[in-house]
Amino acid sequence: MCGIVGYVGGRPALSIVLDGLRRLEYRGYDSAGVAVIDGDKVLTEKKAGKLANLEKALADRPSDEIATGRTAIGHTRWATHGGPTDRNAHPHLSADGRVAVIHNGIIENFGRLRAELEASGVEFASDTDTECAAHLLAAEVRKLRESGAVDGPQLLAEGMRRTVSRLEGAFTLLAVDVDVPDAVVAARRNSPLVVGRGKGENFLASDVSAFIEHTREAIELGQDQVVLITPDAIEITGFDGSPALGQEFHIDWDASAAEKGGYDYFMLKEIAEQPQAIADTLLGRLSDRGEIVLDEVRLTDQDLRDIDKVFIVACGTAYHAGMVAKYAIEHWVRIPCEVELASEFRYRDPILDRSTLVIAISQSGETMDTLMALRHAKEQKARVLAICNTNGSTIPRESDAVLYTHGGPEIAVASTKAFLTQLVATYLIGLHLAQIRGVMYADEVAAVVEKLRSTPDALRELLNSMEDVRALARDLKTASTVLFIGRHVGFPVALEGALKLKELAYMHAEGFAAGELKHGPIALIDQGTPVVCVVPSPAGRGVMRDKVVSNIQEVRARGARTIVIAEEGDEDVRAYADHLITVPHTPTLLAPLMTTVPLQILACEIAAARGHDVDQPRNLAKSVTVE
Ligand code: F6R
Repeated sequence: MCGIVGYVGGRPALSIVLDGLRRLEYRGYDSAGVAVIDGDKVLTEKKAGKLANLEKALADRPSDEIATGRTAIGHTRWATHGGPTDRNAHPHLSADGRVAVIHNGIIENFGRLRAELEASGVEFASDTDTECAAHLLAAEVRKLRESGAVDGPQLLAEGMRRTVSRLEGAFTLLAVDVDVPDAVVAARRNSPLVVGRGKGENFLASDVSAFIEHTREAIELGQDQVVLITPDAIEITGFDGSPALGQEFHIDWDASAAEKGGYDYFMLKEIAEQPQAIADTLLGRLSDRGEIVLDEVRLTDQDLRDIDKVFIVACGTAYHAGMVAKYAIEHWVRIPCEVELASEFRYRDPILDRSTLVIAISQSGETMDTLMALRHAKEQKARVLAICNTNGSTIPRESDAVLYTHGGPEIAVASTKAFLTQLVATYLIGLHLAQIRGVMYADEVAAVVEKLRSTPDALRELLNSMEDVRALARDLKTASTVLFIGRHVGFPVALEGALKLKELAYMHAEGFAAGELKHGPIALIDQGTPVVCVVPSPAGRGVMRDKVVSNIQEVRARGARTIVIAEEGDEDVRAYADHLITVPHTPTLLAPLMTTVPLQILACEIAAARGHDVDQPRNLAKSVTVE
């Protein structure tokens, strides 16, 4: 949610910041802007709409002096306070025009601050909460300069510390000051910020993809820290001014991982990467004897034996992964497992204690609702285990333990490979718990492990047979509503299919538990209504499969056009399918690793056929750092 970049060094800063913004645009894309320090001026440009609008405005400037400055900040916005207009785009300037500020997050006491500033004669140029910070920072820097207490770049650092002491809420703020030309200052509370350490140059950004072309050495800032970067130094302090250290890490993927690599959309590339993402997530975690090896999870075997209940908290697609995990954990581990939307969890006063394991699932590791749920769980003394795809992000850092998914960077707003790797991570945790607690025999665990190992190949095979799904997408692009039904683990898959279609194609789509249909939703079915039916495997729990087939007949009898996703070889369902999509056989609990994929492709292709921006759907952002 909002992408931010800062640069200070020996090279022209504008192009570096714009490149960074291009890589961060997935975070928010309703306006964008830059501020560059050039001599004794701060030059800004900002525009509503996508980054391309800003680039055009920059190209249209009569002079290109903005392209030469060596210090700059840039922002791509997901609007909270104030609509997505030129005037509300960041950066925001102080009243004297000397200080420019960009911001990710929400300043919750902005109403009071604005009233106070207006009463003292400040005129606001925007409707944003961010502008308060620009005025406050400029005033603090002015006071410090007049008092002579500090000088040089320290003016900015101390000014920022004093400013943040007035702010409530979540913020990453970046600021430059014309009178302190070779420095960028930043403050971080509850919103992500990483520093990139270069040679004779340093970087700040919401995530490492913004500077990965220039350096792989990064520092993750902690909560309530201020960082001052100059070309040769990085100085981190707490909000109280005490020296502090960030968490240093090396980025182990390269810039090409964040490129489209010949695909039309990042989403298509990320769908195609799923077999590898699964293989990478399994790598090193399965022994030759078919055991689960999760030594990296910092919970002792005794901790895991002491658990008597599991809660999974997550949002959106990650929540659907949690729903699948509930079936697997309860079946394998035989302990209660609840799944809850993170945004609801803490308001319900859940009953947690030291023997509760809370699993927080998040691709970005920054989702505010999940972070708040995690903190609530920790306050109640529960142990928190994060499943996360983003190294060094806040959710794993605040958790007791973490299991990273190795999906690589996910740039498209709609989550695909992250979902499948989250499923894999929860399977690993479920099997690990069952193994340690002695609930499953070694050969039972080994049998599931064997199947997990074979999923990347099965998935490759599936991905090579999606032409019919593409043709179907072109056919469905004018549908006004699409329903999805599934039972057991097929139910979260149905929800996920509907979510993908809503967010990408902007079509009405609903997912239902197949058995629930007759309790109301079946009334939605009209002549020709497309209903996507996720059919369980006939092997194993054959009864469930037969029940879903009955549900398909019920909707067909009412005029539905059925799109049936079933296992290869389940020939009987063909009779009830207007369109049949087959997937390779997998044991029931692992089936979502296959059945979800055609639904991802369907949504992506329908959205493309309707002319939508697949990677950056309207109103959304990749990383949701507000509640
Ligand atoms: C949907 C989607 C979202 C995210 C949700 C949680 O395609 O991407 O629903 O799954 O916002 O995000 P993370 O996993 O980053 O916490």
